[in-house]
Amino acid sequence: MTQGGRVFGSVRMKTEETTPPAAPCIMVVFGATGDLCRRLLMPALYNLACDGLLLERFAVLGTARRSIGSEEYRVLIGSKDQGIQRFHTRREFDQDRWARLTDHIHYLSGNLEDSNHYRKLAEVLSRLDADYQTDGNILFYLATSPDYFRTISDNLSQAGFQDRPGWTRIIVEKPFGSDFASAQALNRQLLDNWDESQIYRIDHYLGKETVQNLLAFRFSNGMFEPLWNNNHIDNIQFSVCESIDVEGRGGYYDSTGVLRDMVQNHMLQMLAYVCMETPRSFSPEAIRDEKAKLLESIHICSASEVPEHFVRGQYGPSCDSQGRQLKPGYRQEKDVAPQSITETYAAGRLSIDNWRWSGVPIYVRSGKGLCKRSTEIVVQFKRPPQSLFQDTPVDHLSANRLVFHIQPYQGIELLFQAKIPGQKMQLQTVDMRFSYGDIFKATRSTGYEILIHACTHGDTTLFSRGDLVESAWKIVQPVLDYWKTAPAPDFPNYNRSTWGPKVSSDLIERDGRHWFEVVTPDILEQSPLFKNADPLLLNTAIMALHPRAVGPGITIVKKGDLADEMYLICRGKVEVIDDEGNVINTLEDGEFFGEIGLLMSIPRTATVKAKTLCDLFILHRNDFLHILNDHPQFAETITKVARERYEVVIMKENLLTPT
Ligand code: BG6
Repeated sequence: MTQGGRVFGSVRMKTEETTPPAAPCIMVVFGATGDLCRRLLMPALYNLACDGLLLERFAVLGTARRSIGSEEYRVLIGSKDQGIQRFHTRREFDQDRWARLTDHIHYLSGNLEDSNHYRKLAEVLSRLDADYQTDGNILFYLATSPDYFRTISDNLSQAGFQDRPGWTRIIVEKPFGSDFASAQALNRQLLDNWDESQIYRIDHYLGKETVQNLLAFRFSNGMFEPLWNNNHIDNIQFSVCESIDVEGRGGYYDSTGVLRDMVQNHMLQMLAYVCMETPRSFSPEAIRDEKAKLLESIHICSASEVPEHFVRGQYGPSCDSQGRQLKPGYRQEKDVAPQSITETYAAGRLSIDNWRWSGVPIYVRSGKGLCKRSTEIVVQFKRPPQSLFQDTPVDHLSANRLVFHIQPYQGIELLFQAKIPGQKMQLQTVDMRFSYGDIFKATRSTGYEILIHACTHGDTTLFSRGDLVESAWKIVQPVLDYWKTAPAPDFPNYNRSTWGPKVSSDLIERDGRHWFEVVTPDILEQSPLFKNADPLLLNTAIMALHPRAVGPGITIVKKGDLADEMYLICRGKVEVIDDEGNVINTLEDGEFFGEIGLLMSIPRTATVKAKTLCDLFILHRNDFLHILNDHPQFAETITKVARERYEVVIMKENLLTPT
């Protein structure tokens, strides 16, 4: 998905030289030996240093229980296997630059529950302040388990950190509470010691360029705003698909689940950006006010509405075709209860009760252990009336779609219909695509750079406010409550490395819609039909394929029926059945069926049933025939397989031409 497509327009990028460096301060990291600090915070500071955005008047004081000195700490965070050399995001690692940065990094060991530790901290900070001339400015970064947030906040307050010269700010990591009540309590506890303007609740999604661009896109492009409402938009889909599993965090994840881990925070933040009203200015409070209003307008489900609006899933193991386990399921992960009912997948339909969005379903879904990693927001416009085309060969009009590719591919795509050159009126979906990588030279970042930088300047735009966090919890709370008491779900309900549970497609199909799957070349290339295919063929196929999930036992094609489409199996097994009901063949991942009816223009020659849950791609007849005509490589592969399978002779003149 990275190549091809025309790039429309280009924006002059604000260069790094025009960005002021981070303000002088000492950043105190609680939880300094932890994963977050080593994987993300240190690489972010290193990136800021490489970009010339850290001054000499900046220092880091890491603190944690581990009893080591500053020198040993620098070795730990600089190491090849656990430190910067493994986790940095630059193309090349600059040892000198890192060495210069580590001159500014110090460490103090201590127990977070011991008030003496905070007295020592104050002493060390005074010394560092004098050494680095940081004007008494301190940024406390709470990168510990949330269980310590209160303790740290209270101890800092008792140690008199509010009354020092300079500014004091406090960054609070997620999870911010584990439900509405605990988030409210945490807000109260922090506000006992700090002013709201000092509290920076972090959500690293807001640090992603593509997420920040949602606001820029909406409010700097006049042409979309008039269409941005229920008159023109049919539905919006937010998908955060992860291929990774819980990555050794089973203990945390098993008491969390995807609804808390991804939906309540990252996804609702993106949703607020896409759906909020125009702020009165780009000031932090104006933006946060509009986000808050939007979240407040989301309909809160009653208990009886939950099963209709939300579904959940949990991944089981992935297996090879002989049924041998390749990777463990969620319940076999370390620190996960063997009968756990924690969801690793969730999908829901939200509605926004305001004039702009009334009647527009907002679908959200996120899961781990899926077949691909991709985060997208799809804005689907309403279909134009078909009537104009009634006397033409066009029997179906596709809706326009605007796709925000958040990651890993970063870009924006607009899908629309174009006439296929020729005498007849025929349409094909085509796209206009803007790719970040083609236009901007920015290096890959962790997302934390901009957040740390903004915090040193007192810019709260990219941080969540207390009321926003609470509103987001209110939205998911009825679902958490319902799932806690509802009968135990039949988990696992999807295999690892698949598209997710069938209940998710059922949820959206009940409304007569489909998830818009962003098919990537690497997914297609898993099928022999598209292996090493040229990019043009891949691109055409990506535009033409429609995904569908089919449950076990369901008949997909029936002998004697007219053949209107062929199927590609992404995941799962199907059985080909003869007249007597005998299984004559089993097809699985990467294989395809239904092509013979299209190739020969004859009715279905056999019945095909799903043996397991199947993720399929459907290629409709017209698209099939176009691809066949335009791509000899595809024609050759598919006719060769058909010849071998059915011992039929396929002559070019047998083939239907596209209607
Ligand atoms: C974190 C979640 O907040 O976000 C993780 O705790 C998840 O479970 C991660 O994997 C996803 O972040 P990203 O930036 O990789 O999309």
